[in-house]
Amino acid sequence: MQSQSSLAGVILAAGKGTRMKSDLPKCLHTVCGLPMAELVGRAMHEIGIAKPVVVVGHKGESLQAALDTDRYDFAWQNEQLGTAHATMMAAPMLDGKSGSVVVSPGDVPLLSAEALRELVTKHHDSGAKATIGTCILNDPSGYGRIIRDSDGKVCGIVEHRDASPEERKISEINSAVYCFDSETLLRLLPTIEPNNDQGEFYLPDVIKKIYDEGGLVETLVYDDFFVFQGVNDPWQLAMAGKELRTRILKHHALLGTLIVDPDTTYIGADVKIGSQTVIHPMTTLEGTTVIGSNCHIGPLSVLVSSVVGDGSTVLMSHVNRGEIGEDCRVGPYSHIRPKSKIGNHCKIGNFVELKNAALGDSVAAGHLAYVGDAVVGSGTNVGAGTITCNYDGVDKHMTHIGENVFVGSNSTLVAPVAIGDGAYVGAGSVITNSVAADALALGRARQVEKPEWASRRRKKRQQSGS
Ligand code: UD1
Ligand code: MG
Repeated sequence: MQSQSSLAGVILAAGKGTRMKSDLPKCLHTVCGLPMAELVGRAMHEIGIAKPVVVVGHKGESLQAALDTDRYDFAWQNEQLGTAHATMMAAPMLDGKSGSVVVSPGDVPLLSAEALRELVTKHHDSGAKATIGTCILNDPSGYGRIIRDSDGKVCGIVEHRDASPEERKISEINSAVYCFDSETLLRLLPTIEPNNDQGEFYLPDVIKKIYDEGGLVETLVYDDFFVFQGVNDPWQLAMAGKELRTRILKHHALLGTLIVDPDTTYIGADVKIGSQTVIHPMTTLEGTTVIGSNCHIGPLSVLVSSVVGDGSTVLMSHVNRGEIGEDCRVGPYSHIRPKSKIGNHCKIGNFVELKNAALGDSVAAGHLAYVGDAVVGSGTNVGAGTITCNYDGVDKHMTHIGENVFVGSNSTLVAPVAIGDGAYVGAGSVITNSVAADALALGRARQVEKPEWASRRRKKRQQSGS
């Protein structure tokens, strides 16, 4: 195989994707949480193409904004005149690079590094000027067909809409993932003409030109069709999502994650899970979520870009960009919102909401509490119904609760306020002033008791006959 530096990559992603019936550019649609163009780009990165050139056009700014500019170069195709024209737009960025170039549409979300590696290896080993990824399909309709001459050599590609009834019977399809000799591609691209039903400049027409000038065209016939499957409409997007999801689940399962119900478990492409963790049914793990080992997540939990330490349980809860330590129990029905960090050995129970709250170790907030814009020291108990009143209608304020504090039930902590280490807050208190360490604070009306009041009242009513 050639040295990696001589391998370039182009991702064609300028098309509108009319068949998607969507306002988003097609390649920005996500599969398992990542834009399709990013999934294609990752396969290229993995085989050593450091900075593939992404050709953007229709709503290109939004696609560009979704991709990391450190890992991609961009070329603009302002008018979508076809896949050959799109490739031409990347040509100035490839000019002067000898060697090979992998060209792929940005709508093949299951494209794998393995498949690309095989494609490039076959290309180099055979000395071909172009190598095409192909598949044999029972139902090839919609795809470009691979045309072979009487010796079986590839001599062209014909699009479905331009194909004769005989050509439509061909079951070998063009995946539109190719490896080209760069010099040949760049030389032939300007010679392509829009002689087809759509009046577009078709990249597959390069193949016939290579054949006509005596160049070798090779194919990599790939068994795993999903890897090369193009997404052109929302149903194909859904099916690609289902397939990639299954592959991601299998990947985790084979590394030791126990997935109770693959049919109702959704794990994003970037999620990491430790071994012997159980993912229970109806659970969604998204973004950059990292789960430790020996955890129980779900049933019915949604975690977005969150961290869970070893041995913790998250049951029927929603965690959005939160951090949960080791050996914690969260849920059922907890809501952990952004910038919340829970220490080790904590218990966060039903209908407890945390937002921008840093909890030390062994904190318990078991029931019906709101802890927002707060710091809570280790060993503290936050009683049922405790509310940190963090918002005064204009600004947000912090509540500082020390270590080993006991906040009695139904306490209202009006921020900014601080409760010192070891202090007690009596149940039902409204705390507006800071509480010293080890003090007992009571902020409620003193109980009044009137002996025999009820019986006197009953008697009075009987006498008046009411
Ligand atoms: C293309 C191939 C077809 C192949 C199929 C495999 C062509 C003409 N046809 O058809 O042989 O079987 O892929 O999935 O290449 N794009 C641009 N600029 C344009 C037009 C398209 O950047 O002017 C991009 C699109 O955003 C898309 C990719 O090129 O990511 C392929 O275009 P698409 O319209 O999906 O082509 P297909 O009809 O799928
Ligand atoms: Mg397509």
